Amino acid sequence: MKVSRVAAAGLLAAASLYSVLPAAGSPAPAAGSSSPDRPLRELAGRQLLIGTAVDHAAYTSDATYRARVGTEFNSITAENVMKWEVVEPERGQLDFSAADELMTAARRNGQQVRGHTLVWHNQLPAWLTQGVESGDIDATELRGILRRHIIDEVGHFRGRIHQWDVANEVIDDNGQLRDTIWLRELGPGYIADAFRWAHQADPRAKLFLNDYNVEGISAKSDAYLALARDLLRQRVPVHGFGAQGHYGVQYGFHSASEVAANFARFEKLGLETAVTEADVRMIMPTDNVKLQAQAQGYSVLLQGCLLARRCNSFTVWGFTDKYSWVPGWFEGEGAANLLDENFAAKPAYRELQAVLALAR
Ligand code: G3I
Repeated sequence: MKVSRVAAAGLLAAASLYSVLPAAGSPAPAAGSSSPDRPLRELAGRQLLIGTAVDHAAYTSDATYRARVGTEFNSITAENVMKWEVVEPERGQLDFSAADELMTAARRNGQQVRGHTLVWHNQLPAWLTQGVESGDIDATELRGILRRHIIDEVGHFRGRIHQWDVANEVIDDNGQLRDTIWLRELGPGYIADAFRWAHQADPRAKLFLNDYNVEGISAKSDAYLALARDLLRQRVPVHGFGAQGHYGVQYGFHSASEVAANFARFEKLGLETAVTEADVRMIMPTDNVKLQAQAQGYSVLLQGCLLARRCNSFTVWGFTDKYSWVPGWFEGEGAANLLDENFAAKPAYRELQAVLALAR
């Protein structure tokens, strides 16, 4: 399988087939048909987990969205409801209700789940950040709180999470450990501790480092390679490296072979790799040139993953422009997803179908 997958991806690097597929905007593909116009999860088959971030509010309120999550993807990631501010809004009050709804849906849809995320500097509960700021919570207590959080959350989902993003965005764009509440209060050892506690709570889950701007070879991905080497030397249970894949059409993209070469460095250490949060935003309004370029952005990430030997999971950070974090974060930008706000296929969706169809 690997050989054909790699060869296929190599072929794809040379030509794009998506032009033979139905035009963008045509209705959702019929499951089980022989045409390449089939749901991504069907085209991916067993060779690759093809996933999406799921917006819990949209999932519970939008039937079209809910149906498409089930038919299109064989893996899901909770976009927000497994984050600390949601699962422990008040100290000691755990609330996994929203996350549990997504877990139940995943089981119903025969999907794997990527856990996101255990240690991050964003979306922390106010009681924690204010407690540290005021000095009420000192470093020793904070370390205990972090340990408790990881044991509680990983333990709650024990045996049901495929990959956990244990440490998210812990290195800045200069390749230095990111200056966060965790580094300031606990020192660099918090990263190793987090992996050990997660492994203790669920020895079967694959534990990942995850970040953005690490899709290609750069000072930042070099720093992650050094961090991974150092953690493995300390026998810390790190199993994978995730590149988020948040691209912008206006910034251009790496080549598929550069993404694969970068992943190969981590795989040489014995790690798995994954694309964990792919999206390709653009400066609005959209036009055909930007939409074609967007298709290439998604394509190089998927081809890079297929070219790599141990990249077994490709997740998009949302799949329809109807629900996207981009406009709220990047003023004047948007349309970052595979389907438009009416769930109609964009060139990017057709491109991923073509890449997966050829790689089968
Ligand atoms: O839940 C509250 C709601 O009660 C309130 O009414 C509303 C209005 O302020 O805010 C809601 O919280 C928002 C939350 O998403 C849930 O929708 C936050 O304001 C908003 O900041 C948060 O944005 C999320 C962002 O992470 C926060 O950093 C995005 O949806 C989510 O897509 C984004 O995801 C991150 C990954 O976790 C890590 N990598 C980058 C990626 C994009 O930033």
